[in-house]
Amino acid sequence: MRWSQLLFSQGFGTRRVCAGLIDARAVRANGRVIDTDDDVPVVDGFAFEVDGRPWTYHARALVLLHKPAGYECSQKPRHHPGVLTLLPPPLRTRGVQSVGRLDEDTTGLLLLTDDGALIHRLTSPKHHVPKTYEVTCKHALQTKDVDRLLSGVVLDDDPAPVRAAAAELVTPTHLRLTLTEGKYHQVKRMLAAVGNRVEALHRSALGALTLDGLPQAGQWRFVGNAERAAALFSTAPARAA
Ligand code: URA
Repeated sequence: MRWSQLLFSQGFGTRRVCAGLIDARAVRANGRVIDTDDDVPVVDGFAFEVDGRPWTYHARALVLLHKPAGYECSQKPRHHPGVLTLLPPPLRTRGVQSVGRLDEDTTGLLLLTDDGALIHRLTSPKHHVPKTYEVTCKHALQTKDVDRLLSGVVLDDDPAPVRAAAAELVTPTHLRLTLTEGKYHQVKRMLAAVGNRVEALHRSALGALTLDGLPQAGQWRFVGNAERAAALFSTAPARAA
């Protein structure tokens, strides 16, 4: 692959803009300026700089974002800024989109990718990747409420009960809940079904991925191929359906 193709593939602009970056001596790799559009041997994780900013090559981008409250996950946000505004322009140009959605007021771990097949795989009902939520509840929960969440509650749009894969009371109003499905407003509706109300919601894990290394809301990082496979595809369903 030539340098201009590499830059184009990573979202640095049109082919003309990418060729212009090389002419303008804005690209560096391995400690030297790239000033000719030569072939470059690329592997995922290959490091380079554009305009002094470090970047890494990823044939397909998979990004882990610590979502702040006040951002919408939809492609066309209506009432609040979209989560894509938190990412640098090359990722937006590449067309990354969120893998599933978190509500505008939910914080925590959100995956985004430009890999349509991966979105399909991870959001398919057949793929039971566990998602863990830290739920702040309005009223103290009783053990019987936790037991109901584990044995199954009925939501308003489906007579089939939905069950938590795991539920643990950290404090009487802090519930750690793990789900393997992703129904609309599922956590809020499950808590409503046991007569409670969600005051704050934070997703702390997805498969084996956590927010370690991203302590501040708004921070993001790439997930490499090896990590992706280990974190998302070696996780057995936490509980049979
Ligand atoms: N369940 C909800 O109710 N909201 C979210 O954002 C995620 C899961």
